[in-house]
Amino acid sequence: MKVLVIGGAGYIGSHVARRLLDSGHTVTVFDNLSSGLRINLFPGAAFIHGDILRYEQLRAAMRETGAQAAVYLAAFKAVGESMVKPEKYSVNNIIGTIHLLNAACETGLKNIIFSSSAAVYGEPKYLPIDEKHPTNPENYYGFTKLEIEKFLGWYDRLKGIRCAILRYFNAAGYDVDGRIKGLEQNPANLIPAIMEAACGMRRELQIFGSDYDTPDGTCIRDYIHVSDLAAAHVLALDYVSGNDKSLTVNLGSETGSSVTEVLETARRVTGREIPAKITGRRAGDPARLTASAALARDLLGWKARYSDMETLIRTSWAAYHTN
Ligand code: UFG
Repeated sequence: MKVLVIGGAGYIGSHVARRLLDSGHTVTVFDNLSSGLRINLFPGAAFIHGDILRYEQLRAAMRETGAQAAVYLAAFKAVGESMVKPEKYSVNNIIGTIHLLNAACETGLKNIIFSSSAAVYGEPKYLPIDEKHPTNPENYYGFTKLEIEKFLGWYDRLKGIRCAILRYFNAAGYDVDGRIKGLEQNPANLIPAIMEAACGMRRELQIFGSDYDTPDGTCIRDYIHVSDLAAAHVLALDYVSGNDKSLTVNLGSETGSSVTEVLETARRVTGREIPAKITGRRAGDPARLTASAALARDLLGWKARYSDMETLIRTSWAAYHTN
């Protein structure tokens, strides 16, 4: 299938583009390179340097490539920043997706794979979180994701555009075959922060709170390998195009790891000391988040293969160590 990967030069986008190519799809990456990197582009994929906020550019890209499907991975995703600069998130995430949907209507593109987030759920009412869990985002980033999910639902009903909504838990790791070279710029997430501390790119890891109601006092999250996420995108594309039907699924490993456990695994795998300091809690962090991925298993036949902490750290370290 001809697939437009919007944001395909970014961290998750490049892994998805790689996996689509490996599965025999014809891929065009559409990216404004604001955080995506040229080094993440593959010779097997075409590239259009374009911006999702420039409606004509996006529509032209769909027309010129004859895209039958689009994967949308061009959103801003820093939770903290979204609370300070909601305008930025409104324009890029919400208006960007409306452009995508309208351009799809105009060009006859029928399948969209959308990166949503566990942030749509907010503070967990029960664990593990399944797709029936109430949605009540506690940050503006999560709010934009939930609003977009609603737009997608309406365009499904009104325009027959089928959509896979993939609610990621904590994406981490690098391509298991080491083919992605570009490192995320100014990462705020835990595993890249640990990697930067391990390489001396930052002085130390700050551990945001050790007084949570968890066995070691640090927050527990469900880390899911990007190679597993990428595989899910390809399966989701097969599902929506093959069944002419939309779906919403969680993507997580169904395993919880605390900040201390992640750090200790990183120290062991890298053989580095990795300086760390406990600081105060970060606002808005729930103590525990873990996914139920049963629905993705049932509908897509998907299962996390690379999301054990050892592999998450080993592949991250391979990327940081060599690049
Ligand atoms: N943490 C630290 N130090 C750091 C960075 C993070 O201690 O330098 C801690 C956080 O406090 C948290 C855990 O590590 O307890 C994970 O934090 P991340 O920032 O890596 O990830 P979040 O769980 O906050 O959020 C991530 C994505 C969101 C997504 C969410 C879904 O960034 O987009 O997972 O679970 F919505």
